[in-house]
Amino acid sequence: MPGEPVLAVDGLETIFLTRHGVVKAVNGISFALEAGKTLGLVGESGCGKTVTSLSLLGLIEPPGKILSGEVRLNGYNLLSLSQKQLRQVRGKEISLVFQNPMTSLNPVLTVGTQIIETIISHERVSRAEARQRALDLLTRVGLPYPEKLMKCYPFQLSGGMRQRAMIAMALALHPKVLIADEPTTALDVTVQAQILTELRRLQTEFNTAIILITHDLGVVAEMADEVAVMYAGSIVEYGGVIEVFENPGHPYTRALLRSVPHLDRKCETLEHIQGQPPSLLNIPDRCAFLPRCPVAVGECSGPRPPLEAVASKHMVACYQACKVRARELQPA
Ligand SMILES: Nc1ncnc2c1ncn2[C@@H]1O[C@H](COP(=O)(O)OP(=O)(O)O)[C@@H](O)[C@H]1O
Ligand SMILES: [Mg+2]
Repeated sequence: MPGEPVLAVDGLETIFLTRHGVVKAVNGISFALEAGKTLGLVGESGCGKTVTSLSLLGLIEPPGKILSGEVRLNGYNLLSLSQKQLRQVRGKEISLVFQNPMTSLNPVLTVGTQIIETIISHERVSRAEARQRALDLLTRVGLPYPEKLMKCYPFQLSGGMRQRAMIAMALALHPKVLIADEPTTALDVTVQAQILTELRRLQTEFNTAIILITHDLGVVAEMADEVAVMYAGSIVEYGGVIEVFENPGHPYTRALLRSVPHLDRKCETLEHIQGQPPSLLNIPDRCAFLPRCPVAVGECSGPRPPLEAVASKHMVACYQACKVRARELQPA
């Protein structure tokens, strides 16, 4: 059905119980994603992006714990499934590409074996058929000599080739949702651009929804339909990419956008965001950006601001941004 989300995350909360206290890595986030669309999830290192992606797949292990929330994929809640059921869903319905494919590819199996085994373990197809599909996939992610490549072990490939092989494997079962966690961060820019182009082509072909996790706003502008800006475990701004980039409401988003280099503004010095990202240990229930915020006023030290709509498909968690928008909307 058009407009129906394929993935809907509601109030996801993931913590780590450490010797020093509770790390609130993901602090009640919600978002939804339609088939074939891309959501860019951005934010500084340590803000909870990877913990979010692991939580969506039920891959949080002690001392981590998903405290609450729902992850609805096609209507059923992934977080209520057993480990056995989850294993069936992973790869088949929702799959993951990591920054470092060496941690996800099995070092002692050839690339071909890994893709073939992935297909055979989930679908009733012959080995010959699975092999043909693996070859086809490797070609489609832009890898030359797929026959030869099938016989290679991961360590024999370059970083870019490994990442492509990883994408081929993640898409082998045509999952409805692909989570790509910093998929090209470790690669140089030309390889990055090629891989992102391949990814987008495959997305169109399979109608895959993608959650693209990155700290690179340029990549988000290029690839995403919607963007969620994370700060200290929370989504502080969420909306259509063009709307958010043209009218950023949260002071953190504005600062992030100002820290991106522009070719047409060569002489300007790049701004950086004052202060340090907060520790997620024992965080108080108030605006986490407050200590770094240039526009904070007294009331900002109250309870954590909720995400509020400031325009159609645009939400901001900031008392000041919401007030400014409300004033703009007042009839003169
Ligand atoms: N196994 C763990 N034990 C304790 N804290 C963790 C663990 N894994 C992640 N964290 C904490 O969760 C927070 C979010 O981490 P992460 O999701 O990896 O950030 P990002 O991917 O945005 O860089 C960080 O403060 C990190 O220290
Ligand atoms: Mg990460």
